[in-house]
Amino acid sequence: MSATSNARRARRKELILRELGLMPLWRARAGGVRRLAQAPQMPHEIPAIQPEPGVRHMHDDNPAEDRRSEMILRMDWDQLRTSVEGCVACPLCRSRTRTVLGAGDPNGDWLYVGEGPGAQEDATGEPFVGPAGQLLDNMLTAIGLKRGRNVYIANIVKCRPPGNREPTADEAACCAPYLVRQIKLMQPKLIIALGKVAAYNLLHGDGSLASLRGRLHKYAGIPVIVTYHPAYLLRNMPAKAKAWEDLCFARSTMQTILQSSK
Ligand code: URA
Repeated sequence: MSATSNARRARRKELILRELGLMPLWRARAGGVRRLAQAPQMPHEIPAIQPEPGVRHMHDDNPAEDRRSEMILRMDWDQLRTSVEGCVACPLCRSRTRTVLGAGDPNGDWLYVGEGPGAQEDATGEPFVGPAGQLLDNMLTAIGLKRGRNVYIANIVKCRPPGNREPTADEAACCAPYLVRQIKLMQPKLIIALGKVAAYNLLHGDGSLASLRGRLHKYAGIPVIVTYHPAYLLRNMPAKAKAWEDLCFARSTMQTILQSSK
């Protein structure tokens, strides 16, 4: 490879890292060198999940749950917001401060789906406003998007799982009708699943995130692309290059979708 193309590749890599908010990677400081790209670790205590008395399990035969789902699946946006704000369908309601329905352009082409609110989202009622949210904003910018403009951001669960643990299958199942309705109302052209909790719940699959990346999936006929969760990217430098590939794949997929719908 020529020196010119090497230089071009290096320059492109630098631009990518800058777009993702990862430059400068290192900065000399008095008393040593600190890695700027390294974000604070997210708390990761995962409390043992105990079945609680009186908590419904979605897998049980539960006519009341069916009626609740049917009602949600007929709601408009205002009704959804009110319903989520008052939701007591799973134990997450007991520890939440605010519910986080989602935010952005409800008529947008792009839907980003994360896992569930963290501490800052729980405090503000807005999705992705903490450190992971800042990285998500940079990822959007990297492909010419902007939060709220042609983009809606939602989560699998609308209440914060304590200690930032993953939502349980029952919690995700209780919340599922809300996201199903959001998607139905929004009719996005492309869904980006951020991380494995979003991917598993949307696609009802499993497998490694690596095996889900790089190809088009479908949710109710809508193309879905799976990429890393921004919180994971904050802790894992090497995955950022792969996330960039996913963003480029998403951008070219959207171009194809828009062209074919002309
Ligand atoms: N992580 C998520 O998955 N969603 C948020 O809203 C914030 C952090």
